[in-house]
Amino acid sequence: MKNILVTGGAGFIGSNFIHYMLEQEEDVSLLINLDLLTYAGNLENLKDIENDTRYRFIKGDIRDKALVENLFQQYDFDTVVHFAAESHVDRSIVEPEIFLTTNIVGTQTLLDAAKRHWKLEPGNKYSREYRQGVRYLQVSTDEVYGALGKTGMFTERTPLSPNSPYSASKASADMVVRAYHETYGMPVNITRCSNNYGPYQFPEKLIPLMIHNACHDLALPVYGDGMQIRDWLHVKDHCSAIHTVLTKGKIGEVYNIGGNNEKANLEIVRLILAELGKPESLITYVKDRPGHDRRYAIDNAKITAQLGWKPLYTFEDGIHETIQWYLGHTDWVERITSGDYQNYYRNMYDKAEPLA
Ligand code: NAD
Ligand code: TYD
Repeated sequence: MKNILVTGGAGFIGSNFIHYMLEQEEDVSLLINLDLLTYAGNLENLKDIENDTRYRFIKGDIRDKALVENLFQQYDFDTVVHFAAESHVDRSIVEPEIFLTTNIVGTQTLLDAAKRHWKLEPGNKYSREYRQGVRYLQVSTDEVYGALGKTGMFTERTPLSPNSPYSASKASADMVVRAYHETYGMPVNITRCSNNYGPYQFPEKLIPLMIHNACHDLALPVYGDGMQIRDWLHVKDHCSAIHTVLTKGKIGEVYNIGGNNEKANLEIVRLILAELGKPESLITYVKDRPGHDRRYAIDNAKITAQLGWKPLYTFEDGIHETIQWYLGHTDWVERITSGDYQNYYRNMYDKAEPLA
């Protein structure tokens, strides 16, 4: 690992990953962050490292072939970690098209550029030889597997069965990555992680939205009965898992990443209210999300047994630290929740009917 291309590095997980790599990985000569700075991208997340000589930011679109090609030529990447995506299920229900172009076409654009630069004989369609040490890592999600009933867990062999336009776009991108490995022999990995929480998460997702609303004594909109279950992992544990796959993962393999930490949404909302000393009367049940996946659970046996990775955070410590982080970064929260966020929130929640 010398020259790394990180896409979507101004978002939640990407910015945590850039911090993680610059702190933990000695073998980084140059880390390029390619990000379009959509509503979800925020360079403030990277302010403390913007003068690090190993780091450079490029504003641009992963779907821009010429730009991506130029970046490969200029920086001679040997590693690509692809985070950039439209990532919010609720937005995908309202506006699916951008999820398909960003998440699927964007992935293919990156794969094509990497193939052209890494293949020893780029003009020979039968050749499967690549430069030593190159690797493309696709950051995917457990949501590609669909929903579980009361029991069972997703393994890497669970068939893909996505239910939302977001998860369908991520599953499609995974299939494209798989196809580039099977057809062209490209050195790839796919990681599929459960729900992340931690610093720098945009307050459209459950945990930061509930912290933000509770701090302002606003209603906490819980979809349906609030008994949907997610497996929650601290973002730093996700970053260490991706680092582990980059350094020890077997080429061509998929790795599930999860924290063995299933929680119902309502349990999390109550925990946030208790920690902030706010009343449960703020909880407001609203009409359920269409196609809402009832339960996700990740079997992480492969990455733990084969690569020796394990999460370091307990949920109790992680959520406490996260709530404290948001309380200590009210300026950051206020800046991103003014302006466009207000329109998003009104459109999303003012029309959300109370549960009958
Ligand atoms: P995010 O929405 O916070 O960040 C996405 C970033 O991608 C933003 O900085 C945005 O500006 C950038 N981006 C969007 N479109 C772009 C484009 N066309 N070109 C360049 N940059 C673009 O997302 P996140 O929560 O940090 O998720 C990162 C990745 O991890 C995604 O691929 C997501 O599917 C995956 N993932 C997320 C979770 C989670 O719980 N958040 C869990 C598992 C997997
Ligand atoms: P979210 O953070 O959007 O992640 P995902 O849909 O990718 O799992 O939502 C997590 C859970 O919280 C999901 O079951 C939907 C629920 N939820 C609410 O009940 N209310 C909300 O306002 C939001 C944003 C989410």
